Amino acid sequence: MSSGLAELHDRARAVLDPVHYDYYAGGVGEEVVLGENEAAFRRLALLPRVLRGSTARDLAVDLPGARLAVPVLVAPTAFHRLAHPEGERATARAAAAAGTVLVSGMASTVAVDEVVAAARGVDPDAAVWFQLYPQPDEEVTACLVRRAERAGCAALVVTADSPVFGRHRRDAEHGFHDLPPGLAAENMRDLPGGPPGGTRDIEMSPSISWEHLDRLRASTALPVWLKGVLHPADAVLAVGHGVDGIVVSNHGGRQCDLVPAAVEALPAVVDAVAGRVPVLLDGGVRGGGDVAVALALGAAAVGVGRPVLWGLAAAGEAGVARVLELLRDEFDHVLALCGGRGVGDLTRDLVVVRGTGV
Ligand code: FNR
Repeated sequence: MSSGLAELHDRARAVLDPVHYDYYAGGVGEEVVLGENEAAFRRLALLPRVLRGSTARDLAVDLPGARLAVPVLVAPTAFHRLAHPEGERATARAAAAAGTVLVSGMASTVAVDEVVAAARGVDPDAAVWFQLYPQPDEEVTACLVRRAERAGCAALVVTADSPVFGRHRRDAEHGFHDLPPGLAAENMRDLPGGPPGGTRDIEMSPSISWEHLDRLRASTALPVWLKGVLHPADAVLAVGHGVDGIVVSNHGGRQCDLVPAAVEALPAVVDAVAGRVPVLLDGGVRGGGDVAVALALGAAAVGVGRPVLWGLAAAGEAGVARVLELLRDEFDHVLALCGGRGVGDLTRDLVVVRGTGV
């Protein structure tokens, strides 16, 4: 982890309730994948090119649903008000100020319309995307999609890797199952079948299939990203079913503890997709060098989850801004060191496996 991020992590750990710290930090099972997401980046090295004249560097990336000033966006994570009273509002403002996207979680503790309003208060053109867990009741899913559309979200991110809840050992040990009084998953308020004025529980849907995705896509004009793809065959199916982009992700090691590190799954997905839609990566990105490696392996941009939560807990909006600034500066520096002028100059031949030279 870059030293600036490590410092924010230490501050976050010091201020957070230990139960909430473990909810954010923890993974599923023995936390093998949690560790591997970061470790896999350490096993990769960059082979810089020289004498390329890289004074003026352009870090911007165009994606369906947003133009990013820097190829780092905020991955969807739940319950930001456990970290800071301003919660997702603070995260949205910091992301907008950095010229990037917040993927606002369906399980946010601030309603999506207020999240978008916070981002637009900073930059009227700010893009916020909405992450969706399709619900077993498709009417509920449809209401959530309408809510995101009405709020002004610029894309949907459908999470596909969670047919059931991940089993988080740390949460089980602490008996952490419910939000503290006063906090709720605000997007789940006033939905069909829910208590009037109250919130419905978020459910996972083991029955979800490609047909559900087709119906979802047909129901909205928003670009649809599919998050949680690891198998190249699923990437091909996703393209065939018309998604606008794919997110290679193992949910930050929080769903299945038997899968590869996210960055290890990336190249095969990129090859299978063959440029037809953009591919994002999240999981274990802890510095600008990791961003460069992921882009060289074919990611159009990366998402960061926990580092943003550490920034939020440590210093609210300013802390998130600091995380995004650190990643931007480090990435720009690494790009210069690699002789790159833009993200397109980061190609796969620049990545080698440490200790092997290939
Ligand atoms: C997540 N993630 C997640 N993903 C999603 O699609 N919906 C969600 O509600 C959540 N919630 C969530 C909570 C917490 C506390 C964490 C840490 C993660 C997964 C997230 O989008 C992303 O895939 C990972 O966080 C990326 O890994 P890093 O950057 O945390 O290593």
